[in-house]
Amino acid sequence: MTSSFDLAAIRKRFPALQRTAVDGRPVIHADAPGGTQVVADVIDAMSTYLRTSNANTHGTFVTSQETDALVARVRGQVAAFLGTDAEGVVFGPNMTTLTWHFARTLDDRLGPGDEIVCTQLDHDANVSPWLALAERTGATIRWVFLDPDTGRLDLETLEVGPRTRLVAFPRASNALGTVVDPEPFVTAARTVGALTFCDAVHAAPHVPLDRHALGIDALACSPYKFFGPHAGLLCADPDLLADLRPDKVRPAPDTGPDRWQTGTASFEAIAGVGAALGYIDDLGMETIASHEATLTRRFLDGVSALDHAVVHGPAEAGGRTPTFAVTIRDHSPEQVAKILGEKGIFVWSGHYYAVEPMRVLGLLDWGGAVRIGFVHYHGNEDVDRVLQALADLG
Ligand SMILES: Cc1ncc(COP(=O)(O)O)c(C=O)c1O
Repeated sequence: MTSSFDLAAIRKRFPALQRTAVDGRPVIHADAPGGTQVVADVIDAMSTYLRTSNANTHGTFVTSQETDALVARVRGQVAAFLGTDAEGVVFGPNMTTLTWHFARTLDDRLGPGDEIVCTQLDHDANVSPWLALAERTGATIRWVFLDPDTGRLDLETLEVGPRTRLVAFPRASNALGTVVDPEPFVTAARTVGALTFCDAVHAAPHVPLDRHALGIDALACSPYKFFGPHAGLLCADPDLLADLRPDKVRPAPDTGPDRWQTGTASFEAIAGVGAALGYIDDLGMETIASHEATLTRRFLDGVSALDHAVVHGPAEAGGRTPTFAVTIRDHSPEQVAKILGEKGIFVWSGHYYAVEPMRVLGLLDWGGAVRIGFVHYHGNEDVDRVLQALADLG
């Protein structure tokens, strides 16, 4: 832990972390990959917006002008956080809806014989929209395989050809915690003039993102995974967004990111996104990453001593987030999640929509795995309590 990292002060900023379990100890929200807890600044910003400035955009009166200013300001913050252009920031309800929306605009760019690259490491939100696009257009899918032993993509199977039109890949896996280097995907796509689409949902609270530096055409993420409200973000090259033709009502703007936002956005959520990004900016992604690395090492060291527990995914602390898919001998994942839940430790069980990874790992019929997901507001004590609860199952 770095000296600038004051965990107690950080935890005080999250009202939900003050909740206690039946034994009087704080509950452990280790369900972070399914949604993080919300920093108080976010709750305040959303409430303030609704109390003082609630209006639709582009009006002649002050609350509408304040809403316009809010949207513009938060687009700028998103642009800084994701290394993208403010003019290419589209707000939506969640990543999945935005990805389907984006995928539909590619219908007239693909045809029979064209190809889409998908990976076996992705959440289904970065798979199903492309399978449907392939079905609509007659394109075929080229899979990048997941190595079940390492929890990493087998880059030998990343193949593109002259008919590859799109390469979709994750920045990190919500199931195994694997962090993915975009470089090989972007390079392969570029050699054949294909578009790249990156699912940055799981990466966003853990890994610094920079769409420009990484050379990615479009990426999507969800603020509710980085301490903000339920919302989605699509960030793309503004020229690409201008070239595509999203469904829209006739009077809606014909230019800019508003053209992509069907109907009225949740401005209170946008206010919350701004506050979440302000919080992250104060703390710094490097500080977050260095604290999380400590948690990762501690969990991996501890769990390796448990004969009855298996961690699926990268065994090493580098190149991964503190998200762990675990199975426990003689206990179904659901049973484990229930037992931990009764102790005030909240974890997911199942496949968490990461259907392909769970299939490759052979875990689908077994009920998936228990997913234990930490973020920077967890401490060593949380890791140790989770490890003790797993040890008790032996
Ligand atoms: C890696 C990943 N991609 C996509 C999604 C879907 O995000 P949303 O709920 O914003 O549609 C999730 C949600 O869990 C996720 O973890």
